[in-house]
Amino acid sequence: MKVTKEGLSEREVVGKIEGLASSFGAGISFPTILSQNGQILHNHKHDEVLTNGRLLLVDAGAETQRGYCSDNTRTFPVSGTFTEKQKAVYNICLEANMKAIEEIRVGVKYRDIHFIAVKIILDGLKTLGILKGDVSEALKEGVHTLFMPHGLGHMLGLDVHDMEDYGEDFVGYNETTKRSTDFGTAYIRLARELQEGFVLTVEPGIYFIPELINKFKEKGKFMAYVNYDLLESDYLDFGGIRIEDDVVVTKNGCRVLGQGIPKSVEEIEEMMQNKAT
Ligand code: GLY
Ligand code: MN
Ligand code: MN
Repeated sequence: MKVTKEGLSEREVVGKIEGLASSFGAGISFPTILSQNGQILHNHKHDEVLTNGRLLLVDAGAETQRGYCSDNTRTFPVSGTFTEKQKAVYNICLEANMKAIEEIRVGVKYRDIHFIAVKIILDGLKTLGILKGDVSEALKEGVHTLFMPHGLGHMLGLDVHDMEDYGEDFVGYNETTKRSTDFGTAYIRLARELQEGFVLTVEPGIYFIPELINKFKEKGKFMAYVNYDLLESDYLDFGGIRIEDDVVVTKNGCRVLGQGIPKSVEEIEEMMQNKAT
């Protein structure tokens, strides 16, 4: 946020972030995702020039000398000021992030929290006119997978998707929580009941993916719920938003790790408009 400005290339900002990690004797915990095309998940291309009016999604983490990883995402306007449309979508994603954090506690299935977050996103998109009809029915049909085609989060530790190389099912599932076979829900990485001491990410996102929108429309999917005309006229060049925090599950809830990265619209605009401080 401090170094972003129109005219720089995306890779110059990547260099600053990764250089900062190096200066602390740390590495990066995964190849940095930094792009004005936040709708492309795990986008490692950084060759665009930053342009006022666009959003920049930055998903980055450092790996300490002892091997522990962080994984945070913020999405902010290149100009330092959100447009009204960006602010409206951002605040829906922020509400999903904050409500999910509030719901985290021992014994709750993370899949249930995933659906609480997703419901907030669907309700919010309905207020913007992007969705219509009954939101609970839309959720059952999987309409959210058009806008958030990933799970709410994953375990974090010595690897950024901790222990998943050992087998995602061993980490995110157990005897009482089996993987769903439904489209979208099947790809949730962490679904099981939370335990004290678990460290995990909370990363809801709202993406406008032209390829997916076109594909679903062509197939006639979700016609009763999705206002494709509005998506096509107003959102195909929007990009994507993700807000990702790392938390540890405690006895009474959870604690967000780190010193706090600006997250509300006001905090982000303040940070970007007073870069010198
Ligand atoms: N950085 C990849 C992820 O957020 O899971
Ligand atoms: Mn991430
Ligand atoms: Mn993550």
